[in-house]
Amino acid sequence: MNHAEEIELIEKGYLDIQIDPSLDLFQEIEKLKKEKNAIILAHYYQDADIQDIADYIGDSLGLAREAEKTNAAIIVFAGVHFMAETAKILNPTRKVLLPDLKAGCSLSDSCPPELFKKFKEKYPDHLVVSYINCSAEIKALSDVICTSSNAQKIVESFPKEQLLIFAPDKNLGAYINKKTGRSMVLWNGACMVHEIFSLEKIVKLKTRYPAAKLIAHPECEESILRIADMVGSTTELLRFSQSDSSEAYIVATEAGILHQMVKSSPQKTFIPAPPNNNCACNDCPHMKRNTLEKIYTCLLKEKPELVMDESIRLAAKKPIDRMLEISKLAGL
Ligand code: 13P
Ligand code: SF4
Repeated sequence: MNHAEEIELIEKGYLDIQIDPSLDLFQEIEKLKKEKNAIILAHYYQDADIQDIADYIGDSLGLAREAEKTNAAIIVFAGVHFMAETAKILNPTRKVLLPDLKAGCSLSDSCPPELFKKFKEKYPDHLVVSYINCSAEIKALSDVICTSSNAQKIVESFPKEQLLIFAPDKNLGAYINKKTGRSMVLWNGACMVHEIFSLEKIVKLKTRYPAAKLIAHPECEESILRIADMVGSTTELLRFSQSDSSEAYIVATEAGILHQMVKSSPQKTFIPAPPNNNCACNDCPHMKRNTLEKIYTCLLKEKPELVMDESIRLAAKKPIDRMLEISKLAGL
């Protein structure tokens, strides 16, 4: 069964069960987790209630590692499709559930495998470093995967003279080019959430709160990264907010991360960086497809399950294994 067929099945019915509104979903989910030997892995961009029920909350690198080492029979992935796919690639004997199979990723979608294959053919001497936010098919076309936590170290693991393609995020790629002095060829992809921040509004905010530091994810555009006081993955931004002595931060990444920031530093002020319009566009609509209700129903029914072709899985696993090895050697 492919992804589209699975979505069709969901739309036809099995997520459409009535949930008794008086149910305590936290209790029910805990009960089901024990009964079924299941764990919930959640990305920092999930809603606060999902983060609170999760067994592990982390960035893409942490989640991949956790998925690889778990002995649980079922992994409920509270994140997006490419993350659940990575969990299945690394730990194929576990049942991997994604509460909403439509939880995709604009960045991953910006790199269709057929087009990327043609693009790659234009650069026969280049090796491919792909950001983990891509499909299994793109991973299978890559030499090594990276996340925003280890991108610089992964790129630096190649000799300076080795020509590289970086896909699919042009902003992270440009940032790493600048940090390493390389000129990797960049695929022209981007994340809809990180490209929405308004430089003008952030500059105004900085004027209004002069003590606030701007902390930004490297998926943001260069104009934002240039004025940021700190640039890092979600885990790095969270750690910085815990160890740094400032009282306030303007946070240029998806707003879900603020839950852990406020929880661990309640005395500090965290301001979500404003988008260039009036909607809450720094909420990732894909991440936010997951709800407590969907987590409950997916645990109950053990559906929708992430299934994948074994040959793609094996081809995609190689560059992920390489990333995990390099990261370990680099002490990350
Ligand atoms: P990290 O959590 O690895 O920083 O990635 C952010 C992101 O965009 C996930 O979709
Ligand atoms: Fe994809 Fe951006 Fe959402 Fe992350 S925040 S899942 S990169 S669309």
